[in-house]
Amino acid sequence: MRVTAGKTLAGLALAGYFILALLLLAVLARHRGGEPVAPAQPVAFPHTVHAGRLKLACTFCHVFAERFPRAGMPPLATCMTCHRSIAVERPEVRKLLAHVERQEPVVWQRVHTLPGHVYFTHKRHVRAGIDCAACHGGVAQMERVKRVRPLTMGWCVTCHRLRGAPTDCATCHK
Ligand code: HEC
Ligand code: HEC
Ligand code: HEC
Ligand code: HEC
Ligand code: HEC
Repeated sequence: MRVTAGKTLAGLALAGYFILALLLLAVLARHRGGEPVAPAQPVAFPHTVHAGRLKLACTFCHVFAERFPRAGMPPLATCMTCHRSIAVERPEVRKLLAHVERQEPVVWQRVHTLPGHVYFTHKRHVRAGIDCAACHGGVAQMERVKRVRPLTMGWCVTCHRLRGAPTDCATCHK
């Protein structure tokens, strides 16, 4: 009897560890698959105001998206077309103005990144009529930009299959 009970306990403990390991793997897989990531920014720039309320075009600030691999970040001069006079008392705008005074660009934290061995280009996607939201979600409604797509190879390749875009390895790995 005692031996069987011992075996049962050992079995239960083993099953417990197994389940724990599975849970851990699931958490890791989710993390790899891209949990929403939303780093804090040195100046709390609200897309809700600029792309939402003011309805500025995405490419007003991300000027390279239609022509180059990278979409690009706006220089301070772009901000200053308005913030020389608008909302200059707001704490976050004051931070911006302090950067301008020191002639020191704001170092924005990256939200979306791919490993170095992957080639991606905005130009081809934007010119093919794929909306920014297909890959970035509703940025105009985001108080702080977050990553809402996994950016995994499976994600890229699934869309390429659906849209008849190339899926050979050299397309994305040079
Ligand atoms: C076309 C004009 C325009 C441009 C260009 C512009 N902004 Fe603004 N910004 C505004 C307006 C209007 C507001 C809102 C003021 C209000 O709510 O009364 C604002 C608000 C803000 C706020 C304060 C939000 C808050 O509620 O505290 C920050 C921070 C900000 N902008 C940063 C930036 C940065 C950084 C850039 C450049 C990347 C930029 N803005 C470019 C017009 C502009
Ligand atoms: C007034 C300028 C301005 C406009 C208009 C604007 N953005 Fe931005 N965008 C910024 C700035 C500044 C940052 C960096 C700070 C941040 O993440 O909020 C940024 C960051 C981003 C990022 C994150 C970049 C990364 O590191 O991965 C994405 C994606 C993005 N914008 C997409 C959009 C889209 C889509 C639109 C239109 C719906 C848009 N932006 C309109 C200024 C702008
Ligand atoms: C097919 C998917 C896709 C579309 C469509 C797309 N992006 Fe991106 N975007 C990405 C990926 C992937 C990255 C990360 C690229 C990297 O790390 O090399 C990225 C990065 C960015 C960045 C930060 C780095 C940079 O390129 O400067 C900004 C800003 C951005 N996108 C804005 C936009 C805007 C604005 C649009 C629409 C005009 C847009 N994106 C359309 C997938 C997309
Ligand atoms: C929402 C759909 C979609 C997603 C997501 C997507 N792509 Fe694409 N991609 C396309 C389409 C459609 C084309 C073909 C555009 C054209 O006809 O010029 C394309 C073209 C490309 C090209 C140019 C191919 C060539 O002929 O040289 C590259 C490189 C590329 N994609 C890389 C990526 C990578 C890397 C990712 C993931 C990070 C990605 N794409 C995600 C739809 C997508
Ligand atoms: C449409 C774009 C695209 C195509 C086509 C593509 N890949 Fe990838 N690949 C990616 C992206 C994005 C990543 C990085 C994200 C990730 O690891 O899931 C990646 C990552 C990888 C990795 C690294 C995985 C890791 O765990 O770090 C290998 C290996 C790889 N790809 C091999 C291939 C091979 C082999 C092919 C052809 C059968 C191929 N890829 C086709 C986009 C692509």
